[in-house]
Amino acid sequence: MKKIFLRPGVRIFSSRYVDHSIGFCNNAYLKMKVILDGYGKMGRLLEIKLREKGHDVLAAVDPSLTGSGAHASLSTVFYPNLKDALSGKPGKSLKDADVVIEFSLPNVAPVNLLFLINEKIPVVTGTTGWYDKLPEISKAVDSNVSSLLWSSNFSLGVNLFYRIACYAACMADPFKEYDVAGFEAHHNNKADSPSGTAKTLVDLVLGQMTRKKKAVFQMLERTPEEDEIHFASLRVGSVPGTHSLIFDSNADTIEITHKARNREGFAAGAVLAAEWLTAEKRTGIFTMDDVLNNV
Ligand SMILES: NC(=O)c1ccc[n+]([C@@H]2O[C@H](COP(=O)([O-])OP(=O)(O)OC[C@H]3O[C@@H](n4cnc5c(N)ncnc54)[C@H](O)[C@@H]3O)[C@@H](O)[C@H]2O)c1
Repeated sequence: MKKIFLRPGVRIFSSRYVDHSIGFCNNAYLKMKVILDGYGKMGRLLEIKLREKGHDVLAAVDPSLTGSGAHASLSTVFYPNLKDALSGKPGKSLKDADVVIEFSLPNVAPVNLLFLINEKIPVVTGTTGWYDKLPEISKAVDSNVSSLLWSSNFSLGVNLFYRIACYAACMADPFKEYDVAGFEAHHNNKADSPSGTAKTLVDLVLGQMTRKKKAVFQMLERTPEEDEIHFASLRVGSVPGTHSLIFDSNADTIEITHKARNREGFAAGAVLAAEWLTAEKRTGIFTMDDVLNNV
């Protein structure tokens, strides 16, 4: 992340590779041909959102649907893996798609992404829990002159929350009496912990504060160091996602919280990201930050 200076003393984040000269066609977008990689809760919701906006969903790739077509909507072709989707039998091929939207599982996402990057097929991914492979994936994007847009959270609200959190962290930094911590809560089926959103949030906050140097996500069996941000995770019931950032002093507490009510915001944001990526056939590696900078 590179910092830009909005006005003296106020730093806010911006990621690399963004070309601020390219507009988002005044929010206009082209009709897209999309293949969904992963047809779980998010994949199925994306199919609905894409069709609502008039986009074509050519096919979905998901090994759990092989043979059974268990969740198959009438007009979607299913492939068990990306190789079969590339061959295009019995339906449209990956090469017919303007973009692939990938919401699968943390352990398979890097393999899926490398496959799509090597085939030079633009991809938007929302899968979390694989970011240790980001340097390798970024290298592949660069060497293949391909395009990838990733975000640990596609919700517009969360991306606004990131910016508000950055501003708050920057403001609080000189005031040592305010310690910083956070917590997140998600449904009890979530595979990764802490959430990708929590990691992004903490990275952004650390980038804005000189007196905080690292985050600790695990349970503390000691007191936190002065330069640590303690961030806790809770898994319960069907909570779609809650993230809080806390600035606490002897006198008072400042708390900012984002609560997702359902998955609609994630799907809407991922569709917006795909529209942005395909509108100008952008190449490189991007995040939701780049999309927001151009809207
Ligand atoms: N970035 C965001 O805004 C955001 C929002 C919601 C969820 N997520 C993340 O997206 C991912 C998917 O979420 P979900 O709720 O749809 O999960 P889910 O468990 O409902 O669906 C995952 C699907 O991936 C399929 N899958 C398994 N192996 C695959 C492979 N090799 N190729 C393609 N598909 C494969 C599974 O069969 C399953 O249907 C998770 O990592 C989740 O944390 C991100």
